Amino acid sequence: MKQRRAAITALGTHVPERVVTNADLEKIVDTSGEWIRTRTGIERRHVVEPGTPTSVIAAAAAQEALRRRRIGAEELDLIIVATVTPDMMFPATACLVQDRIGAKRAWGFDISAACSGFPYALTIGAQFVETGRHRKVMVIGADVMTSILDYQDRTTCVLFGDAAGAVILEPREDGTGILDFAHEVDGSGAGFLHMPAGGSLHPASHETVDKRMHYIKQQGQHVFKYAVRKFADASVQILLRNDFTGTDVDLFVAHQANIRIIEAAQHRMGLPDSKVIKNIHEYGNTTAATIPLALKTALDEKKLEPGNLVLLAAVGAGFTVGSVLLRWSGVAWD
Ligand SMILES: CC(C)(COP(=O)(O)OP(=O)(O)OC[C@H]1O[C@@H](n2cnc3c(N)ncnc32)[C@H](O)[C@@H]1OP(=O)(O)O)[C@@H](O)C(=O)NCCC(=O)NCCS
Repeated sequence: MKQRRAAITALGTHVPERVVTNADLEKIVDTSGEWIRTRTGIERRHVVEPGTPTSVIAAAAAQEALRRRRIGAEELDLIIVATVTPDMMFPATACLVQDRIGAKRAWGFDISAACSGFPYALTIGAQFVETGRHRKVMVIGADVMTSILDYQDRTTCVLFGDAAGAVILEPREDGTGILDFAHEVDGSGAGFLHMPAGGSLHPASHETVDKRMHYIKQQGQHVFKYAVRKFADASVQILLRNDFTGTDVDLFVAHQANIRIIEAAQHRMGLPDSKVIKNIHEYGNTTAATIPLALKTALDEKKLEPGNLVLLAAVGAGFTVGSVLLRWSGVAWD
């Protein structure tokens, strides 16, 4: 009997129309467009209209995926939302998305794994499909990073943007789908990238607001060094244990945090530019949304064909490290 695997059968994304360029940020903080571009690869990012929550952009991406797959929301069994910017602490954003899109039969939940959120959520969703328990699982990566950015902190506010991406996972028995995953966490790195207040450790108070503790805090250089090492390690490891090398990879779809981190992993695997998706110049780091957005770029650029071996990789706050190896099964794309 052929092995049942979970395959991505549809993709939808939502990118807000409003654009903030590096030049716009020069007017707000002490930075230069040149510094941002050369250190990160970012030239602009898209941001929501103030007050737009994550559930709205997540639902928009989900609806696009459903439209492309030509199915109704009531066919979904499960909705998993990866985000670090939920609409509120509870209920889960997945519940709000379920209601918004009318997925009457679906259950759902959120997962918090920051920039590794999408590969983690994809892996979780895949388990339900592989066991045969569910036939249609919606996996969404969505973040409104501007809701937690401190526009007085030039070291973080230039890095992020807002976006959402959604995929549908379904069973396939033709050799396509998710082949393997390799995830790890290192919680000793928690303090290097976090939002200190708003949880049970530092509940919201006048003091936490005055101390600007409801914003992202990052020790950039430390995160950078960890990410460069782990990104490449995780990518190489998952290839090796599946008896592949860099030459077998058709497409490397990396989390977009910094162009230098992506290129370090690219060079370690010996991949040419044509096999690596880079769209950070347009969107910045959209946290859980970068990988589905990069899949969209790949489809738009006709770099993704059925049967392709695709490697997804991410490193994020936690620290979290995620890599997923899959054989692309093809999606409707117009
Ligand atoms: C944030 C990041 C781009 C900073 O680049 P860097 O080369 O490490 O820069 P440093 O932090 O060493 O800072 C160098 C100098 O630039 C300054 N600087 C920082 N942000 C700046 C900005 N936006 N504009 C101008 N100067 C800036 C720093 O203050 C520092 O000045 P100093 O030398 O006078 O102290 C980089 O560390 C990074 O990408 N880190 C990982 C981010 C990431 O991936 N996060 C998400 C997890 S997936």
